[in-house]
Amino acid sequence: MADTVQRTPQRLNKRPDEDVGPPVVEIRNLWTRFGRTVVHQDLSLDIYAGEILSIVGGSGTGKTVLLRQMLGLERPSQGSVKVFGEDISQAKPDQLQHMRNHWGMLFQQGALYSALTVFDNIALPMRELRALPEDVIRDAVLLKMDMVGLGPEHANKMPSDLSGGMIKRAALARALALEPRLLFLDEPTAGLDPDLSDAFVSLIQTLHSELKLTVVMVTHDLDTLFALSSRIAVLAEKHVLAVGPACDVLRVQHPFIKHFFLGPRGQRALEVLEERNAQNDSED
Ligand SMILES: Nc1ncnc2c1ncn2[C@@H]1O[C@H](COP(=O)(O)OP(=O)(O)O)[C@@H](O)[C@H]1O
Ligand SMILES: [Mg+2]
Repeated sequence: MADTVQRTPQRLNKRPDEDVGPPVVEIRNLWTRFGRTVVHQDLSLDIYAGEILSIVGGSGTGKTVLLRQMLGLERPSQGSVKVFGEDISQAKPDQLQHMRNHWGMLFQQGALYSALTVFDNIALPMRELRALPEDVIRDAVLLKMDMVGLGPEHANKMPSDLSGGMIKRAALARALALEPRLLFLDEPTAGLDPDLSDAFVSLIQTLHSELKLTVVMVTHDLDTLFALSSRIAVLAEKHVLAVGPACDVLRVQHPFIKHFFLGPRGQRALEVLEERNAQNDSED
């Protein structure tokens, strides 16, 4: 348990297991200031290949900003963010573009371009490469649509013709367009009703195991959190207060963790988690 709480840099980020290789994302001593407001204070976090690392924290604790910093869309005030071993804030524009081709992102808002069809939305990242012939793009778009459970009959629809769940799927297909190794999800199930949310969680699970993706996810939704996370990083007091598997993080004595996980919804999600762990144990 002591490994879960980050006290000194040496004790950061208990690795999911010992032979996972170097971190895919390495955040060191990061500070973010907006004017006089300090959002992140000496925050460090490692994310390893193949895991689903979930970030939780109160509203306004800087989860989205942290994702944007990992994507090179914002610069930290201090500290470093390395992705695939490259320091994002030192990278030149062409290097950054090259790195961007290896990750996909699904933002909470602005998931699709409203003036483009589903097909053109998903094709966009491939067309931007200016290297692929249109027939290759066509096959790839239909394949991505199939992967996320969108039939070809939706290809020519406009985003406004789609349900919330279908928009998320189309946005996910676009995020997967360039076959990324790293996928960022900001509140992927927010605004979906429970059935759609469960279906989306299964989809992420399938894609994660089939495509061997590393996933960095921000979520408030405890069902999504417990169903998907290899590890959970708790953002509180302006840094990563605790990081580890759900069962370890839940044992950390901190008011935010108590409040976030151990209310009635948290209790229910926890029971499901424990049942599943018991099932897995009996299957082993
Ligand atoms: N460009 C910006 N300028 C000033 N303040 C910002 C900017 N972006 C984010 N913030 C502030 O930083 C804090 C963290 O924002 P955000 O990362 O969106 O929080 P959340 O954890 O809810 O995703 C918030 O208080 C927000 O108002
Ligand atoms: Mg946010």
